Amino acid sequence: MDIQRPRGTRDFLFEEMKERREIENTLRRVFETYGYGEIKTPLFEDLALFTKKSGEEITGQIYHFQDKSGRELALRPELTAPVSRLYINELQKSPKPLKMYYFGSCFRYERPQKGRYRQFWQMGCELIGGKSPESEAEIIAMAAHSLEELGVKDFEIHIGNLGIIRGILHQANAPKIVYDTIMAVIDKGEVEELLKTLNEVEIDPKASEILIKLVGMVGQREIIKETSEIIKDNPKSVEALNELDELLDILEAFGFTNYKVNLGIARGLDYYSGIVFEIYAQGLGAQKQISGGGTYNLIEIFGGEKVESTGFAFGFDRLVECVRLCGEEKTHHKTVDVYVAPVSKDVKLKAIEIAQKFRKDGIKTEVDLVGRKLKKILNQANNLQVDYVILVGERDLKEGKVTVKNMESGEQELVEIESVTQMMIDLLK
Ligand code: HAM
Repeated sequence: MDIQRPRGTRDFLFEEMKERREIENTLRRVFETYGYGEIKTPLFEDLALFTKKSGEEITGQIYHFQDKSGRELALRPELTAPVSRLYINELQKSPKPLKMYYFGSCFRYERPQKGRYRQFWQMGCELIGGKSPESEAEIIAMAAHSLEELGVKDFEIHIGNLGIIRGILHQANAPKIVYDTIMAVIDKGEVEELLKTLNEVEIDPKASEILIKLVGMVGQREIIKETSEIIKDNPKSVEALNELDELLDILEAFGFTNYKVNLGIARGLDYYSGIVFEIYAQGLGAQKQISGGGTYNLIEIFGGEKVESTGFAFGFDRLVECVRLCGEEKTHHKTVDVYVAPVSKDVKLKAIEIAQKFRKDGIKTEVDLVGRKLKKILNQANNLQVDYVILVGERDLKEGKVTVKNMESGEQELVEIESVTQMMIDLLK
């Protein structure tokens, strides 16, 4: 067949889906213990939702199209803008803060490589309203807690505050329009390019020097002191740095100390307004950023009132890879525990009946439906790694019994049909 999967997309088979579902369920459980409730938004939205803050340039990275009525639509590249839209449409009157989480696929027109896809999944949380260092710390703590629950140990949380750099740009009278350009260059992490851009937009050389120093500030909490020296003449930046310091106290109270202060974090998306953070996992190579988030004010940009919010999203696919790398011995997941094997055609219906009884009692069961020979059934049961095979034979049935075969020991036992379901439940406990 000539038709292939579109570039940057993947198919997922049974094992992988099971693994993904388990990770999804763990995250759900953690998010819900912090009082977050699940929401879902459409896969496509008005293109304007994503260009309003970021400008038309972003369309290069977005899958967008016109529908049959000429509406400009886009497959969502992320979920924070859709959640902010949902809030404006549905929840403006609800008491805040609102705690929501989501799981869904996103689409970005990027050059595919390991860990970077055109369709990928995000699982994240948004805390709408009630911005405070406490809520910001809770968001970061929840992301870290999720990783712990998944058994991921080797990760680093990098935290910064965009207010520090913005304070410098503000004092240097940089026009608002160049903020995003400068942030985008900082996000790339290339100092040479940053210097060039700062020269081009004619930022005061003293401010440029401070900015170059700031973006290189990455380290333990001590660098806060060093930073406060660098920015001491800028009240806005000092305020932002103090805010960051306070957040770190709270994060430590939540029990997380494996963070680094990183003032060079700019985040690729330009709706952030204050605290920002990224989580990096070891072993994933270039695509090691498994999560990103921060504080933003999209709702006001979309025409709502000023509601400062904070949130984050896991790149779910990278997270799955990371869990896989951290996992001990890869456990093989069985699809079923029991195989019901009719010994002849005449007992097929009875075998189906028994299998159905098992399933109703929650036992994962396979039953032969295609009249395989017993030897083949046992082979298949072995391949599926089932624990027990139930042999349904004519002679046993006449006595109201079936044979239970333990696939590990090979032992067989004749059991009353009446009690075989309970026996299986007890054995599989
Ligand atoms: P983001 O950093 O653009 O933030 O994406 C979040 C995560 O999605 C990244 O850390 C990364 O793991 C993953 N990711 C991004 N692009 C790809 C891709 N092409 N393939 C695979 N994984 C990818 C956001 O999207 C924000 N909405 C996060 C947020 C929520 N901020 C506040 N609330």
